[in-house]
Formats: sequence, C-alpha cells, structure tokens
Amino acid sequence: MSSRNYPLNAWYVAAWDYELKKNAMLTRTICEKKVVLFRKPDGSSVALEDACWHRLVPLSMGTLKDGTIKCRYHGLVFDAAGKCVHMPSQDTINPSACVRSFPLVERHRFAWIWMGQPHLADENLIPDLHWNDHSDWTGDGGVIGLAASYELAIDNLMDLTHETFVHPESIGNDAIADAPFTVTHSHKQVTVTRWMEGIEPPAFWGAQLGKPGLVDRWQIIHFQAPSTVALDVGVAVAGTGAKEGDRRQGVNGFVLHTFTPTTGNNSLYFWSICRNYNLSSVRLTTEWRDAVKGIFAQDEDILEAQQKAMDANPAKVFYNLNIDAGGMWARRKIDEMIQAEQHATSAVPLRIVSE
Ligand code: FES
Ligand SMILES: [Fe+2]
Repeated sequence: MSSRNYPLNAWYVAAWDYELKKNAMLTRTICEKKVVLFRKPDGSSVALEDACWHRLVPLSMGTLKDGTIKCRYHGLVFDAAGKCVHMPSQDTINPSACVRSFPLVERHRFAWIWMGQPHLADENLIPDLHWNDHSDWTGDGGVIGLAASYELAIDNLMDLTHETFVHPESIGNDAIADAPFTVTHSHKQVTVTRWMEGIEPPAFWGAQLGKPGLVDRWQIIHFQAPSTVALDVGVAVAGTGAKEGDRRQGVNGFVLHTFTPTTGNNSLYFWSICRNYNLSSVRLTTEWRDAVKGIFAQDEDILEAQQKAMDANPAKVFYNLNIDAGGMWARRKIDEMIQAEQHATSAVPLRIVSE
C-alpha cells in the first residue's frame, strides 16, 4: 500500500486473553509489523518486535523461559522490556542492545496493543467492550483472519440491511431493509439506530425469545473509530415498551467486533456474542457462539470476494446509497484520525555496527 488506510495511534486488539501464554510465544503481524506476544511469570502480558537486535532473526524462533527470550541464532537473551540481558560471547552488554516493546493492556478479555507513538498510548482511549467480562453478561467469541480490509468490514456492520440478503435463513428478514434508521455522530463515534416494530421475528431471534407472536426488534450500532463496533440487538414482545427502555419482555445481545489491520488489505477480526439472560447456560453460550460463527462466515465470503474484485479493478469507485450513511460517517471518523496523525517517520537504515 502506498499510504496507510488506518491510524497508527490507536489501540488494536492483538489477541484474546486465552491466546497469551507463559510457556509459548504467539506471533502476529499488526500494522505491517511482526510482533511476538507472551506472558511473564507473573501473568502480565508482553509484546515485542519480532526481530532480534543483532541480525533481525525472528525472536519467536528462539526459546521463551521465565519471561525472557533467547535468540535461536547466536543466543542473545532479551527480557520482557526488550532489553538484552545476556550476550554469550561478550563480557559486557552493549547498552543499546534492545528490541522495541509495545504498550499492551488487557481489558475486557482482549490484549490491546498500541503500534504508534508510545507517549500517546492513553489507556482511557481503549474502546469500551465491557459486555465481554461484566458479571451481568456472558458470552464467547473467536477470531477470524480476514482477507479483506477492515474498512470493508466496518461498512458491512454499519449497514445491517445486508442481513436481509446475506443471512436470510437466520437473522435477516425483509423488515430490516424496509425499516427507517437514524444516524448520529460525535467526536469518534457513530450510532445507527433502527427499530422494527410489530414484525414477525426472524428465525434466530424467534427461537431466543421462545414466545409466539409479533415482536419489536432493535439494532443499535455503536461504532468507535477506528475499528470497533458494538451491536446492541434484540427483540421483545411487541408493544411492551422496549423502544421506550423497558426490555424486560425481551432478549438482548451485544455482538462485539473489533478489527486489527495486519498486512496489505488483510485484517484480524475479533468478535464475541454476549447476552444478559440465562447466564448460567453454558449450552446456550456454545449455541450462540456457533450460530454467530456460521453467520460471520457468510460475511467473510462476501467481504473477501469484494476485496478481490476491488484489487482486480483499482480504478473503479464505490457508489453510495441511503443505507450507506452510517458507513460513510464511520469512514469520515477514520479519515479524521489518519489526517490528525503526524506522519513524520524516522526511517532507520539497515547498517552493520561493530561492537
Ligand atoms: S540474530 Fe539474534 S543473536 Fe544473532
Ligand atoms: Fe453480516
């Protein structure tokens, strides 16, 4: 890519909490950079650049022991801060011998990484995905390696009329495409609200509600730039006040999505589905997760085919319809973040330094 289509000064999810281990390294490419992730003996998590200071061999090829990595090539050892703490063939350690370490914060079951300027890594900017580990909610999710740009995935989520056509047998029905919606936005956020009142429930939601008759259905899409979308979705028995705030006669889920640019037009798609009822039913958690996994596989097909078509037709442009209003605002928020970044880079030429 000639220019980045994402801001660097942002928190992106590097991994689920369960993917980080004390005895094994996880490698990921994030914002075009290879990183190696692991846990220290005290359980805290670490992200280092996956390239040895000496000759750039990936540290992930080495061995992890007690929170330090020994390079596979010449045995230099780096601690969790990225500092070299052992050089086998030298009495003294060059004080400049270190690899870059990245700010990494675990919150709401995700390990968030900051690939931009470290002094700007404010934890208060981590997107709110508290449904993932709040005691009022339960759920589970996964991660998808998406061969498409995260922007296409955001477009997809900001316009849920696609459910009518991509997911007709589960969550889609004509009511979505027919229902009006409103779009509001603030600094880094865009909200799209759609209510479908007195409709036949789609199959998935009808089964969740477990009651016959018409429903009021809501889809409230909360986007936070650059790449997080929390969908507040559910149905309630028609006319029981859900729209006014009383959801007691309904079932509510939050579908969480957050995307991490990897390399080229590829991304990591972290997702989960949470609910606030039947909290103790592990079976329901598994059923929801598997149902959503199948639904997202349908989106994946579309997005990857779309990306391929874009790559094959670089001169073609997109056209916007009314349904694209939410996505257009989301793209604008992303662009504002990219514009706001300072692009000054200090490219370090590869050179050999004698010790
Ligand atoms: S390349 Fe890592 S120690 Fe030489
Ligand atoms: Fe979808």
